[in-house]
Amino acid sequence: MIIKLHDLYFKPFITAQEIDDAVSRMVNQIAEDLGDEIPVFIGILNGSFMFVSDFVKKYPKPCEVTFIKLASYEGVKSTEDIQRLIGLTQDLSDRTVVVLEDIIDTGGTMYEIHRIFKNQSTKNLKIATLFYKPEAYKKDYKLHYIGIEIPNKFIVGYGLDYDGLGRDLPEVYQIKTTQYMTNLVLFGPPGAGKGTQAEFLKQKYNLVHISTGDVFRYNIKNETALGKLAKSFIDRGALVPDEVTINMLAAEVEKNSGANGFIFDGFPRTDAQAKALDNLMISKDSQINAMIALEVDDQVLVGRLLERGKTSGRPDDADESIIKNRIKEYYNKTAILKEYYAAQDKYYGVDGVGTIEAITQRLAGVIDNLK
Ligand code: IMP
Ligand code: MG
Repeated sequence: MIIKLHDLYFKPFITAQEIDDAVSRMVNQIAEDLGDEIPVFIGILNGSFMFVSDFVKKYPKPCEVTFIKLASYEGVKSTEDIQRLIGLTQDLSDRTVVVLEDIIDTGGTMYEIHRIFKNQSTKNLKIATLFYKPEAYKKDYKLHYIGIEIPNKFIVGYGLDYDGLGRDLPEVYQIKTTQYMTNLVLFGPPGAGKGTQAEFLKQKYNLVHISTGDVFRYNIKNETALGKLAKSFIDRGALVPDEVTINMLAAEVEKNSGANGFIFDGFPRTDAQAKALDNLMISKDSQINAMIALEVDDQVLVGRLLERGKTSGRPDDADESIIKNRIKEYYNKTAILKEYYAAQDKYYGVDGVGTIEAITQRLAGVIDNLK
């Protein structure tokens, strides 16, 4: 579930369970390292309140708990001017101190902590952070205990906020960076000219055309892990599970990560596949923008295919009743998808009768008007 805080969108990133596991791991390590020493745990407010609370509840031995408060973040960028707001009142001489941080980003806060503790004659100063962004960290201070390493993207939840919101969430969400893509699902009955139009759209909008049939043939021919897996089902006469297909498509999307968008052709075919495709798009911080279906009257399709059959030599293009069945099957299969996308206001039927250029113009009209 995507959430919105102020003007920004965030997607689920780390579950409450994963956080809990990480906290337990840290507790175990620290308890083991400190032995019978009674440590002073110092939480850095505000962000660490939830982590410190869960941490000390799990801590198996006696300990002291206190907090200090520093201010650093404005919005989503770490600022340089961190100030110490509420300092230490407690005597820490000869104590083992473990700083509990919710997150270490640039390391600016670490600099302040070390500055503050420089004049304290602690026996030991250890740094423990639940989340750590290695790509962002610019300091050399040793981080003794790290819960979860994360990419350099802004997160909220479990104590962490975006301008005051999100601290109360029991799980962590990551910012959705909106790289704008135009992602289309293209449909058309046999003979509608889908291949021709896909070729045009690909050129005009610089999209990557993903034909599921081609992707399957490519993976099987090149004996990729997924290709071999798919083949094992096909050889048994079984349907390839959606998960295998979607993983192949995900790999194609991954290969073309800089693309302006994708044209999906031959997929999805079921409700479940449409949902899986939506999830794949969400994982890319994107979405399917439209299902475009070329609409052509049955009689016109039959005429076109029979005409093609005269020269193509494809036996299924030569027989009128076979052609009619293929068309009927297309409508049976796509009705459910038409509903699926129409429910999201993403279904666009485009008149597929006319010259190639005229149809192309109609398609461009739809795409140029997508939000
Ligand atoms: P640093 O000083 O750059 O290491 O940043 C540390 C402080 O910035 C943390 O204590 C947080 O308050 C805040 N911060 C850093 N990254 C994030 C984030 O992804 N979400 C929310 N707050 C963050
Ligand atoms: Mg903090």
